[in-house]
Amino acid sequence: MSLRHNILLVFCILPFANALYKQWIPDTNFENATNWDKGSIPCGSDQVVFLAQREISVYVETAHTITGMSLPMDGELILVSGAGFSVQESGDPSCGSGVTAEFKDCESLHWFDPSLWVAATTFDDLHQGTYQFSVHEESVPCQFDDVVFREATSFRVDISSNDVCSVKSVSVLGKKFTSSSELSQYFSSPSGKLQFHGSSSLSVGGPGCSDVTGCICDNSRNRDKICANVICKSLDCKNPLQPVGHCCSVCGAVVNIQFTSNFNFELYRQRLQHLFLSLHKYESIQLAMSKVSKEQRLLGVIPFGATQEIQVLLLDQNKGQDVGKLAEALARDIVKDVHNQGSNLGINSAEFQASSGASSSEVAGNSAGVVAGAVLGSLVVLALLAIVYVLYHRGIVKMPRLPSIPSLSNWKNNIDIGELGGPLDHGFDNPMFDKSTMLPCEPGLYGTETMNSISLTQSGVHFVNPVYDESDFNA
Ligand SMILES: *[C@@H]1O[C@H](CO)[C@@H](O)[C@H](O)[C@H]1NC(C)=O
Repeated sequence: MSLRHNILLVFCILPFANALYKQWIPDTNFENATNWDKGSIPCGSDQVVFLAQREISVYVETAHTITGMSLPMDGELILVSGAGFSVQESGDPSCGSGVTAEFKDCESLHWFDPSLWVAATTFDDLHQGTYQFSVHEESVPCQFDDVVFREATSFRVDISSNDVCSVKSVSVLGKKFTSSSELSQYFSSPSGKLQFHGSSSLSVGGPGCSDVTGCICDNSRNRDKICANVICKSLDCKNPLQPVGHCCSVCGAVVNIQFTSNFNFELYRQRLQHLFLSLHKYESIQLAMSKVSKEQRLLGVIPFGATQEIQVLLLDQNKGQDVGKLAEALARDIVKDVHNQGSNLGINSAEFQASSGASSSEVAGNSAGVVAGAVLGSLVVLALLAIVYVLYHRGIVKMPRLPSIPSLSNWKNNIDIGELGGPLDHGFDNPMFDKSTMLPCEPGLYGTETMNSISLTQSGVHFVNPVYDESDFNA
């Protein structure tokens, strides 16, 4: 008894990775007012019309009185016990004079439309309406997801696709299919034929996601089909971001996390939920967390492999000038949390880009981080020494009279500040510049920040060590 309790507890504490329940939103229920062209369920004086050429499976839960009904050529009414229709030609006085109520067309509702799915971590969350926000590609079912068509509903979904779409399971009318042969048997049944249409094969019985660090949703191969259903909004921000797996550029922030084998995807998602999203100020933020594969490019051109990282997309509801500000604040908090707790969470490092143009890269506060910081720091010092040497060599800077550090006033007198943006900037090899060209060339994601790492201003030498926040230096 107590052993069983312990096992249950372990399962609660260590949930499995990022497999989700994805539930189809639309239904073809008679009692759903949104399915009728008049926006209300037909009443006693109404004439009910189903488009003749359409195939449809309609779920009816209660008894209805109507004045007449025209049925489609191929269709079915699924009547639960007690449901049915009685025709009363005189009509129902409480329903008014009566209208012709037409069932809306649902031919074009496509499996690959991300707006037609909701996602939840558990079946309970699905029932309670505790949904997860996802990037577009992951809003539609991934290979390791459980697909749910709500119990007590019928539906019609276009599953047209060129290749096999595989998921872990599909539940229809409360029955869960985990074997492809059972499912194809259902597809050839009268209801199955009306509910699923389009040429495609849907396969179930996949293994699900067993990697606690998370699994990559393989929907990038369906990207065109998914994004064809998405209309992108016009954006107000300076540097819109292009998150992996999303169809549109966004205003907000993206945190990229380098993880180790100790990382637990679901636990970290819950951490973000409890630590940040439950705070009143961050309530309105949408957070989409996914494991993504990033192509690595040598010198920004030659691909030489891919790395996996965790992407956290943050969107806020702010408008105009303030759009993305709240998301950016949360991104800073998340990076700070990684800085403090990263080694306990199985995280090596985290960095963020915000649509305001701000970005950071921060190494987690472990010994490796300190070493990396020290190395970067000395490289910056070396680079500065190199500048001084080059300037001295070209006779632009004279050796200061004092044997100590060159004074800034001497610099100011002898250097034409305006020329510094020119050839001198390229006069030495700054390893940090190389680093920035190693990163994928997505302008939104990696701003020009690193290119401006060192600058000479009227007030002196100013450099931004990417290990630290720029604001720390300006303070
Ligand atoms: C009715 O259908 C709409 C859209 O198809 C859906 O969002 C809504 O949840 C349905 N209503 C009920 C009561 O199921």
